[in-house]
Amino acid sequence: MKVAIVGASGAVGQEFLRVLDERNFPIDELVLFGSHRSAGRKYTFRGKEIEVKLLQHNDDFKGVDIAFTSAGAGTSKEFAETITKYGAVMIDNSSAFRMDADIPLVVPEVNPDDALNRPRGIIANPNCTTIQMVVALKAIENLTHIKRVHVSTYQAASGAGAAAMDELYEQYRQVLNNEPVKVEKFAYQLAFNLIPQIDVFTDNGYTKEEMKMYNETRKIMHSDVKVSATCVRVPALRSHSESIWIETERPVSVEEARKAFAEGEGLVLMDNPEKKEYPMPLFLAGKDPVYVGRIRKDLSNENGLTFWIVGDQIKKGAALNAVQIAEYLIKVGNIK
Ligand SMILES: NC(=O)c1ccc[n+]([C@@H]2O[C@H](COP(=O)([O-])OP(=O)(O)OC[C@H]3O[C@@H](n4cnc5c(N)ncnc54)[C@H](OP(=O)(O)O)[C@@H]3O)[C@@H](O)[C@H]2O)c1
Repeated sequence: MKVAIVGASGAVGQEFLRVLDERNFPIDELVLFGSHRSAGRKYTFRGKEIEVKLLQHNDDFKGVDIAFTSAGAGTSKEFAETITKYGAVMIDNSSAFRMDADIPLVVPEVNPDDALNRPRGIIANPNCTTIQMVVALKAIENLTHIKRVHVSTYQAASGAGAAAMDELYEQYRQVLNNEPVKVEKFAYQLAFNLIPQIDVFTDNGYTKEEMKMYNETRKIMHSDVKVSATCVRVPALRSHSESIWIETERPVSVEEARKAFAEGEGLVLMDNPEKKEYPMPLFLAGKDPVYVGRIRKDLSNENGLTFWIVGDQIKKGAALNAVQIAEYLIKVGNIK
C-alpha cells in the first residue's frame, strides 16, 4: 500500500503519522507533501526519515493508493484532480467537498458503506465537531429517531491548526509577563477568554461552523434531524467538548441512554456524578473514543435528553476518522 499525506507538517498531518503507526496501518511506502514552507523538512515514520515533497501538478500521485489530505479547502480543490487522476482514493479533511452530492461524507461508526460509492475518487471526512456528535447520536438513533438537536460546542484552540495552538500558549505567557498580547489566528485574545464565533457568519446569523453541524449531520445520518448549534472557541488546547440536547420521537430514559452509550461503537460512558466522573478535555487529549457523561432528562421537554461529550478533534475529529475509513475500505476489499 502506497500512502500519501498532504499537509504533513500541520496539526492533522502530524496526527496522521502517529495514528497510522499506532494502528499498524499496512504501508509499503509513505510520501509526504506540503507547501514551500515545509518542503524539504524531514519527519520520522517507523524509524525512517521521509522528506516532505512540494505539492505540485505533476505525476507524484501515480501509484498512490490512498491520499490523506489535510491542507485546507483551497488546496484540496486545486489538487483533487492531480491527486486522484491515477486512481488514488483521496480522503479529505477539509470542507471543500463535504456537501457535494457525489462525494460521500463518512463516519465509520455511522455510515461506512457510503464510502463505497465515490464517483470522483474522493471521500470527505466531516467537520470535527460533527464527527464526535454523530458518533454519540447514532447510539440513540438506534433506539428511536432523533428529531432535533440543540448543541453548544466548546472548541479547543488546536481546532484552528498548529499555529493557533502555539498562539494560545504564547498569549498565556504574554499575559502572565505583562507583555502586549499578539492576536493573529483568532479574532480576539483567546487566553482567559471565550470567543462565540468559529468561521465566518452566514446570512441567517449562524456561523459556517454552526451550519456545517446542521448540514453534515443530516447527510451522514441520512436523517431529517434539525441541528441548532452555537460554536464557541475556548482556551483549551486540544479536544472539543459539546453540550447536547436532543428531542426523540419517543421518550428515552436515562438508564436506556446510558446502556446505549455504553454499548455504542466508538463511545465510552463516563458518567458517575457522585464520584465527580465526567469527560473533560484536559484529560482526554490523544484518546480515540468519544466520551459521554452528564446524562439527564431534559427538564423542559418530556422527549428530551441532555448530555455532554468530549472527543479529541485532531484524532477522532480528523486523522483517526480518515484512517478508519481507509481501514474499512481494506476490510471489505474495496481497495487493493
Ligand atoms: N485542527 C483540527 O482539529 C482539524 C480537525 C478537522 C479538520 N481539520 C482540517 O484539516 C485541514 C488542516 O488543518 P490543520 O489544523 O492541520 O492546519 P495546520 O496545522 O495549519 O496545517 C496546514 C497544513 O496544510 C499545508 N498546506 C497549506 N497550504 C498548502 C499548499 N498550497 N500545498 C501543500 N500543503 C499546504 C501546510 O503545509 P506547510 O507547512 O508546508 O504550509 C500544513 O501542513 C484543514 O482543512 C482543517 O479545516 C482540522
